[in-house]
Amino acid sequence: MHADPAILIVDDNPANRRLYQATLSDLGAQLTMASSGEEALARCVEHPYAMILLDVHLSGMDGFQVAQSIRDKCPGLDAPIVFVSAVYVHEQDTYRGYRLGAVDYILSPIVPEILRAKAAIFIRMHRLRVDALQHAQAIEKAYRELRTVHAEMEGFSYSVSHDLRTPLGQIAGFADLMQMGHAGELSDKVREYVGYIQSAAHRMNSLIDDMLLLGNMSRTEMEVQPVDLSHLAQSLMTEIEALRPQSRASWQVQHGLQAMGDQRLLRVALSNLLSNAWKYSAGVPRPFIDFGSREDDDGPVYYVRDNGAGFDVHAAGDRLFRPFQRFHSDAHFQGNGVGLAIVQRVIEKHGGRLWVESAPGRGATFFFTLGRLSTRPAPL
Ligand SMILES: Nc1ncnc2c1ncn2[C@@H]1O[C@H](COP(=O)(O)OP(=O)(O)OP(=O)(O)O)[C@@H](O)[C@H]1O
Ligand SMILES: [Mg+2]
Repeated sequence: MHADPAILIVDDNPANRRLYQATLSDLGAQLTMASSGEEALARCVEHPYAMILLDVHLSGMDGFQVAQSIRDKCPGLDAPIVFVSAVYVHEQDTYRGYRLGAVDYILSPIVPEILRAKAAIFIRMHRLRVDALQHAQAIEKAYRELRTVHAEMEGFSYSVSHDLRTPLGQIAGFADLMQMGHAGELSDKVREYVGYIQSAAHRMNSLIDDMLLLGNMSRTEMEVQPVDLSHLAQSLMTEIEALRPQSRASWQVQHGLQAMGDQRLLRVALSNLLSNAWKYSAGVPRPFIDFGSREDDDGPVYYVRDNGAGFDVHAAGDRLFRPFQRFHSDAHFQGNGVGLAIVQRVIEKHGGRLWVESAPGRGATFFFTLGRLSTRPAPL
């Protein structure tokens, strides 16, 4: 839509046209004159007018016929029409005019101040429409760009999973062969090096898994259902305990925590939080992990608390939930730095919030809400 407003003035009387021109000249709109219905039709394609000032009693085509032809010829032109008439317009004709897009009738001789005030409103409305249209176009453009980036991401994920996994599998496979099939031919040093290759390949494989999980997160459709969070946490803790027998921790899970959410996604989120609690508390004398909830004004706030290594939340700042950000060295605790980014996406998808309280050596408590979903009763 044209940003500069324009007004189409249609009147066969030159004195009237001059009067309208003088009345409307300083409103910041371009004024286009037409002395007949035919000329108005020729002009109607030029602009999406902010307003059409149309004499009802034109010689030749009358004002209503002009309005009808404008609507037929320029269907995109839905400019408000203000009819001007020197005599009373019969009620039937008035309705006919309204059906053609008339918004007003004014009597001639016009009162300049009234015409100016009306034109000013239509010019303002036109500017607002242009603004709204430009915003809508900008949003549509951003959406199209986002879709392109999304498609590229999907392509990238695909190539990561296929193109990287194959050579990685070969590296790991040949390293395994050397280790198992030819162990006798290798010196201790070479065997040690082959072991490093195996663990690096294993690490890269888990990085690829995490990247793909993170990439898929935004595309995953939510399946909202009642979820027994207590049961979920309990079974996850039992799994983690079995997977990491080298470290022991005591833990407790509050009973009866029920929520509405996506069972699969919540499992991924809780699994990351509980695994972190387990991993980062492994070095303290009596590790303790606690999963529970407290009531807040906005509903339940769930938490995963540990008494482990903790970290400096302030130093982490806004890197906290970004992928590949770690606040402990690999030498102390191994990890990919993707877990919390995944948790954040899951909580976001539920319309909730994730935050943490922690300090070095003082453990960590991760809090999360599940937005409006969790406040609904969850019959189990
Ligand atoms: N419970 C916790 N106690 C102390 N530090 C934590 C805790 N949870 C997370 N962190 C810090 O936040 C960083 C990011 O956590 P995140 O779970 O994303 O990655 P990670 O555990 O290093 O690796 P992975 O992707 O395998 O989970 C961790 O590297 C660690 O420094
Ligand atoms: Mg983690």
